[in-house]
Amino acid sequence: MCGIVGYIGSKNAVPILIEGLKRLEYRGYDSAGVGLLVDQKPIVIKNKGKVSELEKRVGTNVYTAPVGIGHTRWATHGEPNETNAHPHTNTTGDLFLIHNGIIENFQSLRTSLQKQGYKFVSETDTEVIAHLIDSFLKKDIDLFKAVRLALSEIEGTYGLAIIYSKEPDRIIAARKGSPLVIGIGDHEHYIASDVSALLAYTKQVVYLEDGEVAEIRAEGFLAKTILDEDIIKEVTEISMTMEEIDKGGYETFMLKEIMEQPESIQNSLRGRLIPEEGTAKLGGIESELVHIARCKRAVFTACGTSWHAGLVGEYMFEQFLRIPTEVEYASEFRYRNPIIQPEDTILFISQSGETADTLAALKEAKRKGALCLGICNVVGSSIARESDSGVYIHAGPEIGVASTKAFTAQLTVLALITLAAARKRDMSLADGKAIVEEFLKIPEKVKTILSQRKQVEEIAEIFKDATNFLYLGRGYNFPVALEGALKLKEISYIHAEGYPAAEMKHGPIALVDENMPVVFIAPKDSTYDKIISNIQEVRARRGNIIAIASEDDDVIEKYANYVIRIPNTIRMLMPILTVIPLQLLAYYIAVKKGLNVDQPRNLAKSVTVE
Ligand code: AGP
Repeated sequence: MCGIVGYIGSKNAVPILIEGLKRLEYRGYDSAGVGLLVDQKPIVIKNKGKVSELEKRVGTNVYTAPVGIGHTRWATHGEPNETNAHPHTNTTGDLFLIHNGIIENFQSLRTSLQKQGYKFVSETDTEVIAHLIDSFLKKDIDLFKAVRLALSEIEGTYGLAIIYSKEPDRIIAARKGSPLVIGIGDHEHYIASDVSALLAYTKQVVYLEDGEVAEIRAEGFLAKTILDEDIIKEVTEISMTMEEIDKGGYETFMLKEIMEQPESIQNSLRGRLIPEEGTAKLGGIESELVHIARCKRAVFTACGTSWHAGLVGEYMFEQFLRIPTEVEYASEFRYRNPIIQPEDTILFISQSGETADTLAALKEAKRKGALCLGICNVVGSSIARESDSGVYIHAGPEIGVASTKAFTAQLTVLALITLAAARKRDMSLADGKAIVEEFLKIPEKVKTILSQRKQVEEIAEIFKDATNFLYLGRGYNFPVALEGALKLKEISYIHAEGYPAAEMKHGPIALVDENMPVVFIAPKDSTYDKIISNIQEVRARRGNIIAIASEDDDVIEKYANYVIRIPNTIRMLMPILTVIPLQLLAYYIAVKKGLNVDQPRNLAKSVTVE
């Protein structure tokens, strides 16, 4: 996704902008640029490609600018090239701006501005905003008001930062549907789309809400609505530390995040299990627990890996709460005019808390009166703030585009919610205590699995040139099969599909031959014998079998070509364990293929556009 960073104060903005853009690279982008005021003269430098290229062009001490903005662009309108890169300017070049989001009515605005004589140089929707603001500045309206008037004509989403050389002592920022945060310094202020760009300079931040515009100066800021109503903003202290952002000694963020899952799961559990009561305490939804436990229907809605977490949540809710539960792709849910009742509980799962489809689905569900719960990782994110209430997963910043520790943290929190709600219903104290006891062992069990990563790496070496993979599981592990397939696809670019294991005979088994690696998730649970039958069906067709099996399984070696062993646990928590080898397998295959696992091609960490 696009990244925004800005600075105004007594320091030189240039190194701050470049460093901030580097912190945002993980979001995925294809071009970068900065806009500066040097002795109040506007200077815009931008290029297709990486921030490092921009850094060469800007130079470390060529320009000294007390105010500037920087952008990394992930193309939505117009191909990735220098012309379409941000900042975009008005015709005279004395106003420049950067934009995250999509302007939906940009074509009609462009036509109208062209009729007024404006000439466009780019194919982007963003350039329309620059000329539209200019059309108000021409009427001797000050920048802050001109921006508000322009935005009142815009439909769509934006995170904006705007500089005008005739008003050199301010940056105007505006937010609607794309996150923006103001960083507060000593006689200096920052703006960014993600707190990680500010962390090196300040931990005091203010989150802009949708429909808010801010005039940011070195000494302070003024926030208003587009309708010119003053707003008082609350200052938040960021809890992330710099080392959390850095790679912590691992060669990639993704490996760091896979390896830190014992700690991240521990953090998701921290202070939330109550052994003596056999339950969990979740402050954010304490008052909604009875509603959750007794609602007529539950719906999980999300995208990608988070959608897979929802599929696991469905098994949890139906096993322990006996509530009819559905799982919806957010992108489908939002446009289907979904049937939603006030008695429904709808849970929105999102690591970033900014996924456009999930946020839109949330707004649709709220309009129809359901109880809307956000299960997010990023504190203060849009979905977290838009939800009626929710639970943070506390996985820490997940920088790798492929989600790993956030997924296991999501599963942890869904199990905590299930436990807490079930103990408001029919679950006994003894059963609750048994779950709590098993829960407490999970971080150590994850550590045990991670200690086998060299064995997984050896298996990855054997299969790194495969062109297709199948992943099969049953029950709670069917969603894990889907997640394992997605992990492989998104970082190694190998085609992979996940299926319920029994589904093989309804078509996919036609794909099986000696060139097809088939990963079976086969822990010793209630479906084990069935899985063994499925393994034998594949073996009979010379499929290459990799089994994720229980550490005490003494027959699996007869059927599988390769076995990765995991500790046993209860069914509800098994996906937290079975996904770990699949994360490692995907990781090592991609690394052995020489691919960029942290920033896979075509992908973004947070898809904040439709
Ligand atoms: C998962 O590895 C992908 N990065 C992607 O599918 C992701 O899970 C999806 O875009 C949802 O993101 P969110 O959890 O931030 O909403």
